[in-house]
Amino acid sequence: MAQGDRVPIDAQQVDAPLSTYAVFLVVEVGDDPAALATVREVVSGIDDLVKTVGFRDLGGRLSCVVGIGRTLWDRLAPGRRPTELHVFAPISGDVHTAPSTPGDLLFHVRAERQDLCFEFERLLLDALGEAVTVADETYGFRYFDARDLLGFVDGTANPIGAELPSASLIGDEDADFAGGSYVVVQKYLHDLAAWNALTTEQQEAVIGRRKADDVELDDAEGPQLAHKTLATITGDDGEELAILRDNMPFGRVGIGEFGTYFIGYSRRLWVIERMLHRMFVGQPPGYHDRILDVSTAVTGTTFFVPSNPVLQALADEEPRPGG
Ligand code: HEM
Repeated sequence: MAQGDRVPIDAQQVDAPLSTYAVFLVVEVGDDPAALATVREVVSGIDDLVKTVGFRDLGGRLSCVVGIGRTLWDRLAPGRRPTELHVFAPISGDVHTAPSTPGDLLFHVRAERQDLCFEFERLLLDALGEAVTVADETYGFRYFDARDLLGFVDGTANPIGAELPSASLIGDEDADFAGGSYVVVQKYLHDLAAWNALTTEQQEAVIGRRKADDVELDDAEGPQLAHKTLATITGDDGEELAILRDNMPFGRVGIGEFGTYFIGYSRRLWVIERMLHRMFVGQPPGYHDRILDVSTAVTGTTFFVPSNPVLQALADEEPRPGG
């Protein structure tokens, strides 16, 4: 085993490998100082909990990323804040809306085994106890060759190699928070009957890739852009600004629930926000992303993911009077 592979379990590893299972857990923290103290202790020691569970099967590649919402961040570390961190602002297009929903902490737990995710979440919520209430808990799973429940391969255009950290991790532009990341989550519910009523060619035009072999299609002629084009953002100098997505399907067939949990990490929060604006309002306005005609966003929350040293240092921050 190579030295770098010795302990494939880690906390705050935004670029942890795409996994077979994931849990997306969003919680709210109680208003009292005792709740804040508990949260401070548990999240600053999250790496130990990852080791406790992950070491039992290193091949299970357990990882956990903790994200902290703006309101909780200001309670945990008053006086210094990552420059772009703010509460998710809802977006209303002519037809579709991206709601903003509450959440103080996000735990993005990934592993090759569902039992590792389950055990980690069990011990985590046990430690947090009455300090938190669960806002949303979603168990995601890998669906064949990384497809979403619309049947398309999802994640292909993710940055790799050197592009990955430069797209997903904050750098010198906000030196106190270098190595951190912004993350946006949205839980989407699909109308699969409506989607499956489309022909494969119509579905491919919505996504911008071929369904069977995932080959990218040329950009559409005319104003209605494909999802992949609406989600392509370029910077001032014309270069593409990628984000890191680790979407996962979820659902319960028995009650007709079919969904995609969207999770996007970025060095620049505005890039994800611009993607969302183009999807919901349309580019040009009025031509919204047709993926939304069969996908309803039921949550929307933004978090900051500190690097592990910054997360650990939260244990030593001075609490604000009154907590
Ligand atoms: C591309 C599915 C929501 C950002 C794609 C692709 C699929 C897909 C199948 C093409 C393959 C790939 O490159 O991954 C979905 C589904 C969604 C969803 C099912 C929810 C219902 C979002 C949201 C964002 C986003 C909310 C951003 C805010 C992107 C980006 C690409 C992409 C950046 C790559 C574009 C490129 O450079 O080619 N998505 N997506 N997606 N999506 Fe989504």
